[in-house]
Amino acid sequence: MPCPANIINHHQLTLTAVKDDMPSRHFLTLSDLSRDEYRSIIQRAIELKAKQKSGELFEPLKNKVLGMIFEKSSTRTRVSFEVGMAQFGGHALFLSPRDTQLGRGEPIEDTARVLSRMVDIITIRTYEHEKLLRFSKHSVAPVINALTDQHHPCQLLADMQTFMEHRGEISGKTVAWIGDGNNMCHSYIEAAQLLDFKLHIASPENYQPDSQLLKQAGTAVCQFDNASDAAKNVDLIVTDVWSSMGQESEQVQREAAFKEYQVTHQIMSQAKPNALFMHCLPAHRGEEVAADVIDGTQSVVWDEAENRLHSQKALLEFLLLEN
Ligand code: CP
Ligand code: NVA
Repeated sequence: MPCPANIINHHQLTLTAVKDDMPSRHFLTLSDLSRDEYRSIIQRAIELKAKQKSGELFEPLKNKVLGMIFEKSSTRTRVSFEVGMAQFGGHALFLSPRDTQLGRGEPIEDTARVLSRMVDIITIRTYEHEKLLRFSKHSVAPVINALTDQHHPCQLLADMQTFMEHRGEISGKTVAWIGDGNNMCHSYIEAAQLLDFKLHIASPENYQPDSQLLKQAGTAVCQFDNASDAAKNVDLIVTDVWSSMGQESEQVQREAAFKEYQVTHQIMSQAKPNALFMHCLPAHRGEEVAADVIDGTQSVVWDEAENRLHSQKALLEFLLLEN
């Protein structure tokens, strides 16, 4: 006859084993969502924004904890996740590698195993996308990509919400990506396929987006060798910094390569008269975008930044309560 303490231990072990076996729903790239899921998250983001603005208290994530690992700097992503969790009645835990064992060489797999047994959901901003994949493989909690060198899917929730709020349906529209074929550009390539818009890309030679992603995108993407042609008749122009985080030492070389790729008033005038301008921020006025464009009437960058909050709340709700 086992003593009561042994019964409890046995029971606890069984519960742990079940949790370990349960696959979590991660958000590592946009293609982790179906077309319908992407649209419903955007729709929900619009509803949550209205709820928040009306002053309604809505706390569906009470007692839930979000762990946030940031190996690169962040203003918008960090603040929007922390505020989102607070508004939802939960808590967010900021984990800098400077202060955790991750920064002293503890394997990413072990960090994933340990953290995901304590917190309910995890966001990571890191360099190699492969590192995020390794983490997510060993996490029993859902993992959100808060930016890697290859993708920035959270930003594409906010960007598409912003477009739809200002101009309605994006399907059938045309977007121009002017600049580096970087993480943001890659997420735009995936968004074009999921939401059925055409993406024009103008990037300098040697700074083209990933060829595999371009291949998968097929006719959703059209490449141009200059910014002016890419911008013709489009509904939205988007750009990003010339040197992303981790590429600071390439700044001089990149400035030379990208000098014809600044989004100027002249480039905006190629687009439809009611075209919008977006930038994920932080921006460098006078480099990838002229000041009179980002601070001008077609720019929706502040709504775009605010929508990081609402769209990520919709994402948290989706991953924690609907999966
Ligand atoms: N756009 C964006 O991700 O901004 P942060 O780097 O400030 O998070
Ligand atoms: N491409 C930029 C985006 C910053 C939000 C970077 O990776 O630094």
